[in-house]
Amino acid sequence: MTKPWTPDSWRARPIKQAPDYPDAGAVEAVERTLRNYPPLVFAGEARRLKALLADVADGKAFLLQGGDCAESFAEFHPNNIRDTFRVLLQMAVVLTFGAACPVVKVGRLAGQFAKPRSSEVEVRDGVTLPAYRGDIINGAEFTAEARRPDPQRMIQAFSQSAATLNLLRAFAQGGYADLHRVHAWNQGFVANSPQGEQYQELADRLSETLDFMAACGLTSETTREIRETDFFTSHEALLLPYEQAMTRIDSTSGDWYDCSAHLLWIGDRTRQLDGAHVEFLRGVKNPVGMKCGPSLDPADLLRLIDRLNPANEAGRLTLVSRMGADKVEAKLPALIRAVEREGRKVVWCCDPMHGNTVTSSTGYKTRSFDRILAEVKGFFAVHAAEGSYAGGVHFEMTGQDVTECIGGAQAITETGLADRYHTVCDPRLNASQALELSFLIADALKKERRSQQLRQASAAE
Ligand code: PEP
Ligand code: CO
Repeated sequence: MTKPWTPDSWRARPIKQAPDYPDAGAVEAVERTLRNYPPLVFAGEARRLKALLADVADGKAFLLQGGDCAESFAEFHPNNIRDTFRVLLQMAVVLTFGAACPVVKVGRLAGQFAKPRSSEVEVRDGVTLPAYRGDIINGAEFTAEARRPDPQRMIQAFSQSAATLNLLRAFAQGGYADLHRVHAWNQGFVANSPQGEQYQELADRLSETLDFMAACGLTSETTREIRETDFFTSHEALLLPYEQAMTRIDSTSGDWYDCSAHLLWIGDRTRQLDGAHVEFLRGVKNPVGMKCGPSLDPADLLRLIDRLNPANEAGRLTLVSRMGADKVEAKLPALIRAVEREGRKVVWCCDPMHGNTVTSSTGYKTRSFDRILAEVKGFFAVHAAEGSYAGGVHFEMTGQDVTECIGGAQAITETGLADRYHTVCDPRLNASQALELSFLIADALKKERRSQQLRQASAAE
């Protein structure tokens, strides 16, 4: 029997990846402050996302989740937020138009600050310091001072999240995301890349379609779906004191929601069945995600699904597969079969980033575009073979012209990584690589939807 859930029941469970704060009193003071701050999202919005994800689980829509590996205090700037949002809009248009499929847009934004690390410490030139765990916990600079966990950083992360979310809401609903601006989203270095040209052609076709729709009486003024978009936020629910402080009872349903983001996920390193992170997320009613790496076995997956989604509600649970290009075809089928056999309703999403991280010969943590694409293709192929639905993708990406991932049409090389390697954490796709990938995924999605339609048609005969 599992004990009843409370917002702090995770505290009685073993916890991984938790910072060692030197002053427990200071942490409690910050938690009290945060508890009195307004929620960042509303329960009704989280329920709306859950309903949209239920459509994804049903094969009627596709999930696009993307953004920074880790947001940072230093890179906090409206232009960065705008550029990432803009590329996500471009990618969503490519997928929606290219595959005639509604796209659910979820940012790794407005709260994606805490990072799990493979090592507790970092050693440089014989000096050992605690690992950097994301700006909400400590600083990236390699000094004892910066690496000391400081609870005040939670307040700054909250305030940056609030300001970021405010801008995202304004972009999504204030005219920036109007489909008539589809050409205007193609900016800067992306516009001059091969993907920019391909995008231009698609935007031309979309404009013609919009003219046709206007002639039929559907315009920005008459149709919200043309004028605005729904955009949701997500992050890894790693720093539980922060997440607990943001957890509130929704007055309409009487349920608990973690109001720090619409969707929260559990990382691959913190998904222990009886661990603190699973305990915390099982009790909040938001849609939740769980990373599924190569060490996850089917029996454990089923136990985790039962714990996180006991009512088997579609849209509640998104499984984010991150096996690595060389393992996806070996590891994913058994997980899918277990889920299908037991009739569990989940969204299957592919994170082709975290299983494909390598160190370049020049010493940079990187990922190659080809391996990323290979994992996405493997993911679609496995789902096609199993008769299940490849429902989404999850990327670490930025709107900036960085050189952090190798390859792509820009052909970034190992030596080229040094040019604009800005991430303090994992290597991100730049805007043109992200767009390139979305064109390739649109093709895979189109094929998937065609065979789904054929299956449905033959079942109806
Ligand atoms: C992440 O998404 O940033 C992450 C750390 O992923 P994972 O838990 O899959 O390693
Ligand atoms: Co990462």
